[in-house]
Formats: sequence, C-alpha cells, structure tokens
Amino acid sequence: MARQRWANRTIFLLAALGSAVGLGNLWRFPYLAGKYGGGAFLVPYLIALVLVGVPMLMLEFAVGQKMQQGAIGSYRKLHPSFGGLGILALLSSFIIVSYYAVVMAWSLIYLLASWGVKWSGNAEGYFFQEVLQVSEGVNILGGINWFILLSLFVVWLLVYCCVWEGTKSVGKVVLYSVPLPVILLGILLIRAVTLPGFLQGWEMYLKPTWGALLDSEVWTAAFSQIFYTLSLAFGIMIAYASYKTSEDDIAKDTWMTALLNSGTSLFAGFVVFAVLGYMAWKTGTPIGELAASGPGLAFVIFPEALSLMPLPGLFSVLFFLMLLLLGIDSAFSLTEALNAAILDQYKHLQIAKVSMVVCFAASIAGIIYTTRAGIYFLDIVDHFVTSYNLLLVGIFQTILAGWIYGAEKLRRYINQVSDWQVGKWWNVSIKYIIPIVLTTLLVTQFSKDIKIPYQGYPTWALGIGWAIALIPFLLFLFLLVKDKNKRQG
Ligand code: PFF
Repeated sequence: MARQRWANRTIFLLAALGSAVGLGNLWRFPYLAGKYGGGAFLVPYLIALVLVGVPMLMLEFAVGQKMQQGAIGSYRKLHPSFGGLGILALLSSFIIVSYYAVVMAWSLIYLLASWGVKWSGNAEGYFFQEVLQVSEGVNILGGINWFILLSLFVVWLLVYCCVWEGTKSVGKVVLYSVPLPVILLGILLIRAVTLPGFLQGWEMYLKPTWGALLDSEVWTAAFSQIFYTLSLAFGIMIAYASYKTSEDDIAKDTWMTALLNSGTSLFAGFVVFAVLGYMAWKTGTPIGELAASGPGLAFVIFPEALSLMPLPGLFSVLFFLMLLLLGIDSAFSLTEALNAAILDQYKHLQIAKVSMVVCFAASIAGIIYTTRAGIYFLDIVDHFVTSYNLLLVGIFQTILAGWIYGAEKLRRYINQVSDWQVGKWWNVSIKYIIPIVLTTLLVTQFSKDIKIPYQGYPTWALGIGWAIALIPFLLFLFLLVKDKNKRQG
C-alpha cells in the first residue's frame, strides 16, 4: 500500500503544532516563568529553544521525511542495530498517552460540571474529594473511580475518531482543534484584562529578576521545558514528517512550528497571570501563592478564579473546552506515533483496526490512574518518564544521527530540500551541544532523585518509576548488543 500523505503543507504544520501545543504550554510554561525569574526566564528559555529545540526538531523532521518510516524504521535506516531505540521512544509514548488521556478525562468531567460551577467556594475539595475521591496515600488503591473510568473511555473514543483514518481524519480534525483553543485563550484574555488586578499579574509574570540566571535550576527547567513542549523524543515528529514527501521543505516548517509553539506559551502566560492577578485582587492572596503548575493550576486555582468572575459558568465551559482541545491533538499525535510504527511493520493491516487496538490498549493501561490512588501514580510515572526515558532517547538519537549516520549528511539533505539554508552550527548542536546538555540534565536529575526520594513516596512506589525508566532502556541496550553480535557473527 502507498504511504499515507498529508493533504497539504498547512495540514502538516497544524498537526505538528497541535502536538506541540498542549497542556505544557498552559500549565507548565507560565508557572516556570513566574517561579524562575519572570521576564529573565525568557533568556534561558530562548537560548534553549534555538540551541536545542530547533536543531532537535529539525533532526526529527529530517529523519522522518528522508526515511519515510515511523520511529523504529527510521532509526533502523540510520543504522540497522538501532531499531530498539524506536521501541524505547514508543514505549515512552505509550506510557505517556495512557496518563495524558486521564488528565483529559478529568477535563471532560469539569466541562460537564461547568454550567453549575459545581466547585464554587471549595475548588480544592471538589477536585480531590469529589472528582478524584483521592485516597490517603499511594498505598491505598481504594478501588476504581467509575466516573473517571467512564470519562476515560469517552476520551479514547474521541481520540479514536480523530485517528481512525490516519492522516486523512487527523487532517480534518486539526483544522479546528488547533486554532480553536487559541481563539478561546484570546476570549479569556479579553475577559481577564477587563477585570481589576490583571496588571499586577503581568508584573509577576514579566518583571525580570536577573539574579535567577545564576541558579542552575533555572537553566535545567528551561531546557527540559523546551524538550517537552516540542514533543521531542517521542517518535511523534518523526512519524508526522514521514507522511510528507521526501522533497518537502524542512527548515521553514521547523522554525514555524517552534516559534508558533513558543508564541502560544507566551500568550498563555498572559492569560494565566491576568486571571491570577484578578484572583489575588479579589481574595487578597499574594499572586506568588496562587501560581502553581500541573493539575493544581488547571483543576484548583483556575476553576476557583473562574468562579469569582462574572458569568462563571460560561467562562468555565470555555476554559475546559480549551483544555480538552489543547490535549486532544497531543494525545492523538502520541497514538499516531505508535500506529505509524506498527503499520510500517505490518503493511497489510488496516489503519482503522490498528488504531482501535492501540487506543484500546492505552485505555486499559490507563485504568490504574482511575483508581483513588491514581493521581499519585500519575505523578510518579510522569516524573520518571519525562526525566529519564525522554532524555535517554534524546541523547541516543543525537549520537545515532550526528555521529553514526553523520550530521553533515543529514544537513546536506535538509539544505537540498529547504529554501532556508542551515549552517554548520547545526552539526555542532547535534553532535556536541544537545548530547552534553541532555546528559547534564540526566545526571543532575539522577543525583537529585538518589539523594531525596521523589516527593517522599514509599520505596515500592518509586520502584515502579525506576522500573519504567530502566527496563525499556535495558531492552534497548540488549537489542543493540544482540543485533551487533548477530551482524559480526
Ligand atoms: N508538547 C505537549 C505539551 O507541551 O503539552 C506535551 C506532550 C505532547 C507531551 C505530546 C507528550 C506528548 F507525547
């Protein structure tokens, strides 16, 4: 069967952008900026974007487009022994999408509860006690929360409807699911800047504390954010680029995706901090105490702020609809990465069937997060996958493409098909800067996790996290060595 193709370039760009723009732009970036030096945070952030984010994204686009395969096949074409690296990337994708969908399931529940603003007056209690019905600790599973499970299946049904025809159905969905949340953000911004207090919020967001730049933690945060926000090392961008033809432009698409994604983050920061500023004005709580990242921002602080606004129901609907839309194209991009690899291997299979199996398997893997201890597992798994698996894939990907296959060879290909020419700096970034930066991040994180058990969770629970970090990596090493021996023998 002929390879699937994007209908046109805009569709490809929208799909790549949809994957990049997700919850990370809304609940991670603004928080990091507020915490790590305000406007000064933009310095390490932009440096990381240009030094690591853009070159790495360009690498993934180039590899997928040149090799015309998903992650496993593409890595194998770079070097026959490296198929296992694709497996490592895709296992991480599978793990991530299985909990990412659970966060979307919470958003769906909130969307349904929005008209009545059910959390009004007690946002924290509503989230933890009513929605999650959270248990006392990770030791107490507390059984399945059926409402979340049901919502999770609805989310997976939605994701399935997006990916069932591959690029054809994804192409139709992204026309709406990518611009719409940005428009909704714009509406929320207009709402927020017509309320008092927003300027204080912006001040907190943007006022530079230059001293922060001396703290290594700030730099680590910026580099890992860039990695996460561009959906790198998941095999996604490789799969998406493999649906372009091998003559398509690469350099421009890379810059467009990277800049529009970061632009959305900056924009989201204005919205989040304007709302927090209003809330601080209304409740007298310092803005610094309100700024939170992760579920705390989207499911506690923000809902509370919305409930304090005029027309709370309407704006809550808009907000949670936006959250769902932001999440869905990231979620189906992860699913697509898996589909692409399976379809490369088993060309006779139908896309619809493969998608169904992948969606079903990932929804089953997500059940653990629908228990009453689900949020603890989610926190642990998220920490380990994003701290270790991704960095490992990133490091080996640059070694493979930069050193084994040859950065220069890849750069020549990029320049052959692109209008904008890429200079030799790209080779330097791929061969030296990125592996060094990622290894530093990995070592820093490792020594931190060894010294202080993550969030004080019990050893057995963290053991699950370590297993998730280590087992896929050992599998990759095993396959690498095995293949090498076979070749030599
Ligand atoms: N890039 C997405 C974001 O910033 O929210 C996050 C993400 C997307 C993570 C896709 C993982 C993923 F596979």
